[in-house]
Amino acid sequence: MEKIVIEGGRCLEGTVTVSGAKNAALPMLVSALLVEGWNTFHNVPDLKDIRTIKKLLIDLGAKVETSGSVVKIDAGGLNSHEAPYNLVRTMRASVLVLGPLLARLGRARVSLPGGCAIGARPVNLHLKGLEKLGASISLEHGYIEAQARSLKGAEIYFDIVTVTGSENLMMAAVLAEGVTTLRNAAREPEVVALAEALNLMGAEITGAGTPVITITGVKTLKPASFTIMPDRIETGTFMIAAGVTQGNIKIIGCEPSHLQAVIRKLQQAGITVEQEADGLRVVGTETISSVDIETLPYPGFPTDMQAQFMVLMCLADGLSVITETIFEKRFIHVSELQRMGADVTVTGTTAVVKGGRRLAGAPVMATDLRASASLVLAGLAAEGTTEISRVYHIDRGYESIEKKLAQLGARLWRVPA
Ligand code: EPZ
Repeated sequence: MEKIVIEGGRCLEGTVTVSGAKNAALPMLVSALLVEGWNTFHNVPDLKDIRTIKKLLIDLGAKVETSGSVVKIDAGGLNSHEAPYNLVRTMRASVLVLGPLLARLGRARVSLPGGCAIGARPVNLHLKGLEKLGASISLEHGYIEAQARSLKGAEIYFDIVTVTGSENLMMAAVLAEGVTTLRNAAREPEVVALAEALNLMGAEITGAGTPVITITGVKTLKPASFTIMPDRIETGTFMIAAGVTQGNIKIIGCEPSHLQAVIRKLQQAGITVEQEADGLRVVGTETISSVDIETLPYPGFPTDMQAQFMVLMCLADGLSVITETIFEKRFIHVSELQRMGADVTVTGTTAVVKGGRRLAGAPVMATDLRASASLVLAGLAAEGTTEISRVYHIDRGYESIEKKLAQLGARLWRVPA
């Protein structure tokens, strides 16, 4: 395993380019399972999770070719319907193959993803929706066994807004007979991007981006070319990097319209965020104002930005209240931030952050993807040296993060643990 060492206290300045969005690329690459022939995906980020999903697609019999950020996939020769435990346990998003395999092959055997550091992460809503489409589902020895002679359109209501649940059901429904309506569907930009990709393949999906998505089943889909949208969470993470280092950075290749809730909260905290011709200009301030946040489904404040925003609030001038409504255990980063001098009190799903602190460098441990991003931000802001172990977590969702931060003037490097 490796660790990242950061010498904190330096202002970040310069320009950084955002990569393609992990959480858009994952379902879009999986959607290639629905089609025979070569699909071409541009601007695919080079991340551990992307390499994992490509391996899974190959194990299922698809051909996958990668050249830089271009990935081509031909699932004409699918010869397996099983997503094994050893792959699914490393990346829960593998459960996204369930819908396409059922739609294409009429059966799927996918390991139950199990929980992770941020919560139990059940997939009951995925399974309930697939049963509504006519699949028979059983759970045997830790695997989801799904079969469906044919899938028929249905009305599906999600008790809880679920991003990958909406994506899984959308992909299952595109080849079903008749019309499927997903109600209380997720509105995330990544869900919209998947719907647009499926429509490029010949699907008939309307309403993506609203709580009601309608899918009219078609007989077959055809391969197409796609470009992955910019990663809004990577963008938000760099915005906060400017905020915690009183820096001045320009973020190019980003899509500000995907980050309105985050931009509003950063501006309330006193961070300057301005749209320029080719990107976002973000300028930190000496006096950061405390701001309360509550994580919500899109377009609310994203849970994937909660840990990063907490670091900014540790440096703010007063008390802030952070309420996490999406995942039941998404405050694991707090104990590590406390080792760096943060004053945070967690009660259930609420964290009260007492600002006005200078963070001090310390050896800390990453526990999940976004928690590790918050530890990098804390290391950039802290006085002294921070060593972050188990950095494989951060490699799952941030492409070349040290290189991008070093280009902005940060002093950090990766060493064997
Ligand atoms: C997606 O996860 C993202 N991952 C997550 O990003 C993100 O945090 C999350 O959406 C919320 O925005 C990908 O897109 C690959 P959910 P997902 O289903 O789909 C409950 C990152 O850091 N739920 O929207 O797994 C669930 O427990 C990752 O990039 C059920 O109860 O999240 C949670 O409380 C982390 N039953 C809530 O819904 C279900 O069947 C939202 O989860 C499904 C979900």
